[in-house]
Amino acid sequence: MKNFIIFGAPGAGKGTQAKLLANEFGLVHLSSGEILRQEIKNGELGETVKKYLAAGRLVPGKLIDAIMEKEIKRHKKAKGLIFDGFPRTISQAKYLDHLLKIEGRPIAAVLKIRITEEEGIKRILERAKTSGRSDDNKVTIKNRFKIYHQEMHPILDYYREQKKLIIIDGHGELNEIFQNLKEKIKKITSV
Ligand code: AP5
Ligand code: MG
Repeated sequence: MKNFIIFGAPGAGKGTQAKLLANEFGLVHLSSGEILRQEIKNGELGETVKKYLAAGRLVPGKLIDAIMEKEIKRHKKAKGLIFDGFPRTISQAKYLDHLLKIEGRPIAAVLKIRITEEEGIKRILERAKTSGRSDDNKVTIKNRFKIYHQEMHPILDYYREQKKLIIIDGHGELNEIFQNLKEKIKKITSV
C-alpha cells in the first residue's frame, strides 16, 4: 500500500472520506486537525494554540511539522498513511516529502475533494449543532475559507507538477464520493 493525501476546503468531507478509505485499504488516518484538538484536550498544547484553532488560523508551521513527524515515525510499520489537513502550506508539503523520502515511501497521490464554499459552510453549520468545535461558527468558517484559498494554489501546483493530483467532485451522496475515491486509489495501487 502507499501514502495518500486527502485535500480540500473546510467541510469538503476530508475526515469523513479519509476514515472510510483508511478502513477500506488498511491505511492509518492522520488528521492534523484531530490530532491538534486531541492534544489541546489533553492539555499538551498551550492556550496560544487553542486560540489559533478558535480563530481558524494556521498554527505555526514548526509545531505542526514536529507533530506530524512524530506521527509518521510512530506509524513506521503501517501499510500506508492517509494525510488529512496536512500539508496545508507549500513549506509543509516540502517537509512532508522530505520525511517520506527518509522512509522511502513517497506520496502516491493527492486526492482533492472539490466543493463550493456555500456547501462547505452549510455542512459545517449543520455539524456545529453537535461538534463542539471552537471553529464551527460563521465568523471562523469565513476565515478558514480565506486561508484555504490563500494557501491552496501553490500546493496544488506543486503536486500537479509531480503528476500526483486527482480532483474529484465532493457534492452529492457520501457513498458515491467514497466509491469514486476508492476506484482512484485502486487504480493507483494496481500499477
Ligand atoms: P481541520 O480539522 O483540518 O479542519 P478543516 O480543514 O477546516 O476541515 P473540516 O474538518 O472542517 O472538514 P472536513 O473536510 O474534514 O469535512 P468532514 O468530513 O468533517 O483543521 C482545523 C484547524 O486546525 C485549522 O483551522 C488550523 O487552525 C489547525 N490546523 C490543522 N491542520 C493544520 C496544518 N497542517 N497547519 C496549520 N494548522 C493546522 O465533513 C464536514 C461535515 O459534512 C460533517 O458533518 C460530515 O458528516 C458532513 N458531510 C461529509 N460529506 C458529506 C456529503 N457528501 N454530503 C453531506 N454531508 C457530508
Ligand atoms: Mg476534518
